[in-house]
Amino acid sequence: MSDRAMAVRVRQHVNPLSHKFRQDIAVPDWSTIYKQPSQPLHLDIGCAKGTFLLEMAALYPEQNFLGLEIRHPLVVAANERRDRQQLQNLHYLWGNANVHLGKILGGLPLHTVTIQFPDPWFKRRHHKRRVVTPELVATLAALLPAGGRVVLQSDVLEVAESMVQQFRAHAAFRSTCTDWLPQSPWPVATEREKCVLRKGLPVYRWQLERCAL
Ligand SMILES: C[S@@+](CC[C@H](N)C(=O)[O-])C[C@H]1O[C@@H](n2cnc3c(N)ncnc32)[C@H](O)[C@@H]1O
Repeated sequence: MSDRAMAVRVRQHVNPLSHKFRQDIAVPDWSTIYKQPSQPLHLDIGCAKGTFLLEMAALYPEQNFLGLEIRHPLVVAANERRDRQQLQNLHYLWGNANVHLGKILGGLPLHTVTIQFPDPWFKRRHHKRRVVTPELVATLAALLPAGGRVVLQSDVLEVAESMVQQFRAHAAFRSTCTDWLPQSPWPVATEREKCVLRKGLPVYRWQLERCAL
């Protein structure tokens, strides 16, 4: 089936604070999902249709990839696409990063986290819906080992600055750059990134490392 044929209709934004996104979710037995569960894990928070990870997983079979996404129909479609490509190092999970992240990884060896073009929630009264919060940063600090990597991207300067400030405010994270990265550290662009670059608009990118405390 072509990607056009599998297009799914979904709401453009959902409110992550709503009750229905705060209930328990089923976490799979990772040994039945990944062919080699001990491979380093790259977690992409808010992966949408998951095209970025689909391409990354094909390029890097020695790593595992997990996309966490709050819009359920996108997760179902992404896993179907993963199955058609027979990738055994990739999975998409329905969940709310601000609620479920601490419980989903089990023993998987997290190594890299990407948060790319998160919903900007421009209105001040909606800022509390943004995915990067001090609690999310603390959860990632607890999950990532020393040397683990966090890559942040946004086309909205205020959102990018807010994400960077929150990670820099946590003692466990150290920036590995001193200014916005001139280009993506990845050979693959995300869905939103492709759209932004096509319009010739800037992208703000930052990278941090989990330090040994
Ligand atoms: C603007 S899209 C960007 C998608 C993709 N990262 C890209 O760069 O093309 C942000 C995505 O994050 C998802 N999202 C928002 N809040 C979330 C949360 N709390 N947990 C998981 N996913 C979330 C949204 O549903 C949406 O698919």
